[in-house]
Amino acid sequence: TLPIRIAPSILAADFAKLGQEVRDVTDAGADWIHLDVMDGHFVPNISFGPDVIKSLRSYTDATFDCHLMISPADPYLEAFAKAGCDRITIHAESGPHLHRSLQTIRHLGKKVGVTLNPATPLSVLENVLDDIDLILIMSVNPGFGGQKFIPAMADKIRNARLLIGDRPIELEVDGGVTVDTAPIVTAAGANVLVAGSAIFKGESVEAYRQTISDLRAA
Ligand code: DX5
Ligand code: ZN
Repeated sequence: TLPIRIAPSILAADFAKLGQEVRDVTDAGADWIHLDVMDGHFVPNISFGPDVIKSLRSYTDATFDCHLMISPADPYLEAFAKAGCDRITIHAESGPHLHRSLQTIRHLGKKVGVTLNPATPLSVLENVLDDIDLILIMSVNPGFGGQKFIPAMADKIRNARLLIGDRPIELEVDGGVTVDTAPIVTAAGANVLVAGSAIFKGESVEAYRQTISDLRAA
């Protein structure tokens, strides 16, 4: 079984000092840095793009876990790869040719992820299971941090774990993950926990460290 990994989402960080924030959560024990890219089209919010990610690359050696909430994604995959993303996750809903998009990420030499909105069934993954390294289950409707975990997603996580079987696929959960909901998520079989507001509501590196270790313990 894969280790538990904590991936702070910098969407909830202070954008005026993102480099320092990335360095601080790394020092506080983050395994991956979760990068939420939003285009104001696929989701009703705009965040940041490859140039910002490129600027952040020198602040940490931690894995850059890029979550693309953009449509279309294909024209931008190379830019995100070049910006220093180690893992690139796209939405199954973001285009008609999921398999092609996944192949493109693979050919760019990056870890391949697929994510599903809450209403999208796991069945869309059945024919790409051998082409992916990660499944991201959205436990809120994407677009904003600070939303409430959708309880029905616990069953979806459990079913995703069954679908994965013994494949070496990471199972990540994103949205409303807090010290209170983390036990639900890990009990259901997830091993990567994204947390934005739960971590960045803290006001010091010590606070970040405490939350990250509480999430890991859960
Ligand atoms: C939602 C983003 C999440 C979000 C998580 O659109 O993909 O990564 O920032 O934030 P919290 O942990 O505050 O729900
Ligand atoms: Zn995300």
